[in-house]
Amino acid sequence: MNFKTIIEPFKIKSVETITMSSEEERVDFLKLAHFNPFLLKSEQVIIDFLTDSGTSAMSNEQWAAIMRGDESYAGAKSWERFYNAVNDLTGFEYVLPTHQGRAAERILYGHLGGPGKVFISNTHFDTTRANIEFSGATAYDIAIEEAKNHSVFHPFKGNLDCNKLEDLINEHGAENIGAVILTVTNNSGGGQPVSMQNAKEVAAICKKHHVLYILDCCRIAENSYFVKHREKGYENHSYRQIAQEMFALADGCVMSAKKDALVNMGGFLALKDEKLAEACTNLLIITEGFSTYGGLSGRDMEAIAIGLNEVFDKDYIYYRIKSTEYLGEKLREKGVPVMYPIGGHAVYIDSAKLYDHIPLNKYPGQALVCELYRIGGIRCVEVGSVMFGKYDENGELIPAAMELVRLAIPRRVYTQSHIDYVVEVFDELMKNKANVKGYKIIKEPKLLRHFTAHFEQL
Ligand code: F0G
Repeated sequence: MNFKTIIEPFKIKSVETITMSSEEERVDFLKLAHFNPFLLKSEQVIIDFLTDSGTSAMSNEQWAAIMRGDESYAGAKSWERFYNAVNDLTGFEYVLPTHQGRAAERILYGHLGGPGKVFISNTHFDTTRANIEFSGATAYDIAIEEAKNHSVFHPFKGNLDCNKLEDLINEHGAENIGAVILTVTNNSGGGQPVSMQNAKEVAAICKKHHVLYILDCCRIAENSYFVKHREKGYENHSYRQIAQEMFALADGCVMSAKKDALVNMGGFLALKDEKLAEACTNLLIITEGFSTYGGLSGRDMEAIAIGLNEVFDKDYIYYRIKSTEYLGEKLREKGVPVMYPIGGHAVYIDSAKLYDHIPLNKYPGQALVCELYRIGGIRCVEVGSVMFGKYDENGELIPAAMELVRLAIPRRVYTQSHIDYVVEVFDELMKNKANVKGYKIIKEPKLLRHFTAHFEQL
């Protein structure tokens, strides 16, 4: 029997209250937050789709393990359990615990980067790009062409364009390539998966040119779901085996444990090469902490060790991917231009298409983000020209490649009725589509402006 309802494969043991608000209240809250949802208070939000990062609900097993945390400065038992969990999954011998993903990025790309160096990825996540550019290096995004077309089905839109990879390596010289970074799933490119075939091709090119190949693996379990169900030859593999095979192709990985390790804080860098690991460990000790805890407390390491196993549970992954798809498909039925097919952790909406009357320099994505909050108290994030736009010498906006808005779904947090509420909010949003106006940025910092920029409604 195939039931339609996606049943959450867990029972709820502890609850967190959601404060309900009226539309009038939300209009005020939005003004006070300068029309930037990052500046809202969480209690002003009904459904928080800002990020799937660090927002997971931990399991009873994880909470129990937290009591077991060994907080010894060096050689703690928790470090051993953490090391074994990461080593068993990734196969990498050298494991560096960091307080979150970007700390691992800062250490690795800070060491490998610098002026004249080049990094190549399917799509660099914003902190990845910022860390690379901060070092003085250059970052190139080369997802396959199909990634730009939101209406056609392609099973692996997160794939990296291998012809462009060869060209870039030849153009800049292999010695100037800091690293090739395959982000699975491709977050900024729509949460789209990467195939094993593509990972193999990327690995082969990197090997041929002696270029370092790093996996940004923070959503590796979700990626494994798509490989198992969309790629020939993996039907009978477990999700974990698929992940292990993908790790085996790389020289190392950077992980934000706040995603697929099902914890609220943490990350790691894991490497094959001893020399590189040594250099990075020096930086770890200077900026994070001693090598057997880095940026983490013993209890954090315990929770990560368990999360890294729970996330590959077949019932969990099925529920996870199917409930994201459920939201995406419902919106698609309503004519909302969603990025298709639906990715693993989030539903992405093409705001430039939805609000085709708002010019790109008036930020249609920001308009959508504000509308969703006003109508339904839903908080989400713009992944378009607010996040990635640049200015030319005349101060005119050079828009991002896409004007997406991301509804990122926290893991194990919302139920199907929460999701059905979100679907209803979109009915209202679609009715009011033509009346929505754009936004102007009135204050912004130099880097990562989407976090703190102030906007004015036009
Ligand atoms: N890489 C990817 C692909 C990410 O999605 C993120 C974070 C990071 C690296 C950095 O990890 O936050 O632990 O420092 N993404 C979050 C998001 C912030 O909302 O997508 P971090």
